[in-house]
Amino acid sequence: MATELLPIGILVSGRGSNMLAIADAIAAGQVPACIKVVISDRPGAPALAAARQRGIEVMTLSRKQYPSRAAFETALAAALKDKGVELVVLAGFMRLLSQTFLDQFPQRVINIHPALLPAFPGLDAQRQAWEYGVKFSGCSVHFVDEGVDTGPIIAQAVVPVLDTDIPETLAERILAEEHRLYPQVIKWLAEGRVEVRGRRVFIRA
Ligand code: GAR
Repeated sequence: MATELLPIGILVSGRGSNMLAIADAIAAGQVPACIKVVISDRPGAPALAAARQRGIEVMTLSRKQYPSRAAFETALAAALKDKGVELVVLAGFMRLLSQTFLDQFPQRVINIHPALLPAFPGLDAQRQAWEYGVKFSGCSVHFVDEGVDTGPIIAQAVVPVLDTDIPETLAERILAEEHRLYPQVIKWLAEGRVEVRGRRVFIRA
């Protein structure tokens, strides 16, 4: 069955390993999507070079270039729309987005977070979980709202915390799950199988 490719835009701020995992899954024919553009808010983000190497179009939109957050977000939304993006994928994009931005892509902005939300939102989630002493952590893919990692959860993957773990080894094991889960969720969205009812999200068979 031929499926139309979902045009996605990936927003990054740093390393870009999730962006690459998505690009790999698309290239392997596992996800019916195409990456229209990768946009970084940080000019030196390693993710930019990695994307460029794959032949993916990249852009840098630095907040500092704009007089206000609103002006920055207007430019960001315009760039995404200009490329025909229908799904905005945050992959290590370390910036909150306003409702005005989100309204332009209703239920079409997703994020990955390296903890089992609603536990440990915000920065350094893997360390937060390790310090708290939980026995399981993991990652969550969720729709983005105005809050910090608070939108409806689409999918989660669980990772055990081992007695021998330090935050870095836990983060590594979580990252492997992130790289599996994020392409999977994009696949479900591309197939039109994701249904949102309030805070609850269902994946149709
Ligand atoms: C990932 O672990 C992602 O879950 C996390 O940043 C890392 C980016 O890595 N995101 C957050 O903490 C968002 N609250 P990557 O650039 O290699 O994909």
